Amino acid sequence: FKVISIVGARPQFIKLAPFSIELRKSGIKEVILHTGQHYDENMSDLFFKELEIPEPDYNLGIGSSSHGEQTGRMLIGIEEVLIKEKPDVVIVYGDTNSTLAGALASSKLHIPLAHVEAGLRSFNKKMPEEINRIVADHLSDILFAPTETAVENLKREGIEKGVYLVGDIMFDALMHFSKLAKEKSKILEKLSLYPKGYYLVTIHRAENTDNPERLKSIFSALQELDKEVIFPIHPRTKNKVKEFGLEDYLKSRIRIIDPVGYLDMIQLEKNAYAILTDSGGVQKEAFWLKVPCITLREETEWVEIVKLKWNRLVGANKEKILEAVRNIKEGEDVNFEENYSAPKMREILVRELEKRGGEFK
Ligand code: UD1
Ligand code: UDP
Repeated sequence: FKVISIVGARPQFIKLAPFSIELRKSGIKEVILHTGQHYDENMSDLFFKELEIPEPDYNLGIGSSSHGEQTGRMLIGIEEVLIKEKPDVVIVYGDTNSTLAGALASSKLHIPLAHVEAGLRSFNKKMPEEINRIVADHLSDILFAPTETAVENLKREGIEKGVYLVGDIMFDALMHFSKLAKEKSKILEKLSLYPKGYYLVTIHRAENTDNPERLKSIFSALQELDKEVIFPIHPRTKNKVKEFGLEDYLKSRIRIIDPVGYLDMIQLEKNAYAILTDSGGVQKEAFWLKVPCITLREETEWVEIVKLKWNRLVGANKEKILEAVRNIKEGEDVNFEENYSAPKMREILVRELEKRGGEFK
């Protein structure tokens, strides 16, 4: 069998890594298509190197632009590759514009489509990711759902066929690379950080970065925290801070650093006193690493973690953020089963391909 994995943004490289290892182990031919949505060395190449993902077979070099232009150019490029490669199945990951373009291109060509991280919903259609997920799920033949909530969400939209509850690929990634992170990362020494001596912050969600009032409010809260704040800044956020002239809000207590690789990020997360973020992936990693998390959004797709009290949703309101920080405590004691999703996804893919002889639609 030949599969094509379509990726383009940072979290997708992390999701691809453990699945790609699993596919290679079982001798399945995997072609990797990178749309080029993310392109800075520390947003892209670094992950391929550190996580030992094979060099992409194709890089479309699409880069940044408006949603329509970016997605449209990806669609054109992906279609060409799919016609040439004739894969048995296309795999898309998560909810970015690269996911959307990959899903559209493959279903227009009637190539079977598998979606990793299917069924997540924030129920906020103003988020570009929500649109991308809904479309990708409705076009997919195989839907790898990470949680029971995701399976329920799909059921509510009439999608039951091809849905598999397999667990979370980001759990696989974290377990796989934690040991390596401990051995290799020198980030704590480099930044002179002590375990539990700092807050870790990430912000990149459009609803925050594109609204100067929300950014100001978050930054003002960070200035009042009782420990140093380490803030690996996403290029989108960096650009917006400049555009809105908010540099002064980031002075003193907030230590801005460039985006870090996954191994350094794991070490930073693991040793933080608490994490404040609007990232999807970081919320889950905080939970698995048992670090309290405060989410700078109004809603989350990962509602289970909120229920278990490891995560608190506070939005961008300064007082709410500070109140949550004052009340930081550990959530309910949870013992994780070793629930790896990559081997299950590989098995299901092979079974489905054999059963349907490549004809899904
Ligand atoms: C994208 C995804 C988002 C995901 C995030 C992960 C969409 C709609 N959004 O958001 O779901 O959570 O990736 O990080 O697909 N930029 C650079 N260098 C880069 C990449 C981006 O400078 O390597 C800057 C550019 O100014 C660009 C901006 O960041 O305009 C936004 O990049 P884009 O890929 O459009 O969206 P993200 O905000 O990164
Ligand atoms: N991450 C990283 N370096 C950073 C910030 C994040 O390696 O400087 C990792 C993080 O550990 C997680 C993933 O990137 O695995 C999350 O990606 P991001 O927050 O960009 O996107 P989201 O998950 O919100 O789509």
